[in-house]
Amino acid sequence: MGRDVVFQVMRYDPRRDVEPYWAEYDVPVDDGDTVLMSLMRIRESQDGSLGFRASCRSGICGSDGMVINGRSRLACKTQVARVALSGRVVLEPLRNLRYVKDLVVDQTPFWKKFRRVEPYLMPADRPPAEERRMVMAQARFDLLSKASDCIFCEICYSECPINGIDRGFLGPQALIKAFRFEFDPRDDGAASRFSPLSNVEGAWRCRTTFNCTDSCPKGIPITEGIQRLKQKLTAETLAGLKPAYRSPTPIESPEGTSS
Ligand code: F3S
Ligand code: FES
Repeated sequence: MGRDVVFQVMRYDPRRDVEPYWAEYDVPVDDGDTVLMSLMRIRESQDGSLGFRASCRSGICGSDGMVINGRSRLACKTQVARVALSGRVVLEPLRNLRYVKDLVVDQTPFWKKFRRVEPYLMPADRPPAEERRMVMAQARFDLLSKASDCIFCEICYSECPINGIDRGFLGPQALIKAFRFEFDPRDDGAASRFSPLSNVEGAWRCRTTFNCTDSCPKGIPITEGIQRLKQKLTAETLAGLKPAYRSPTPIESPEGTSS
């Protein structure tokens, strides 16, 4: 093993603890070890009760998002050597979601908002029988392909300051998924998505802080997609197709639970 690194982990078990507290673990770390590997080592050899989510260990499932030294990242894609510059790694649960246990948060509001934008193709017509393929121009495919890389890790949601102050805001992940389908030439769902996207909890609530783009582990230009979405909503509103603002529909209570 290389050197010992101190992992300072926020711990909380609602069945036992009145409030969260910090626990520290000395972990032997080799070059190339990830934060997730160290967490597994802690659970195997020091404290089997430590709670965190993980599955693929290779940046695909999006399960192990957490705040590492102040910034939301994937634990399996973060090498300890890159963040433990002072020999210490501080781990906290993702922000803007209800705290459940140790490094685990309640994902329910995130998924509710995702479903609210109807994140699937809504074609107007079935393809004609003789033409089985629905061809997309390369430029349009290039525009949409990065947005399709989203792994639902909730890191953008955790880093977005508007999600921190407005629990109803759809958030960057739901909006970039809406962008992915709204700009798909095969889709005809704009009328159905218009209300959730254009009301006060939709795209206009984004303040273009770029936190989502800067933190996305897949390099998705989320802010750019949201800006394009705003342009499309503006054009639709000016065309008089639909009303711009409707009353927001509560998605979660102030406590972070679903309504
Ligand atoms: Fe939030 Fe991203 Fe907009 S971080 S404010 S959704 S640019
Ligand atoms: Fe799957 Fe990290 S464990 S993305």
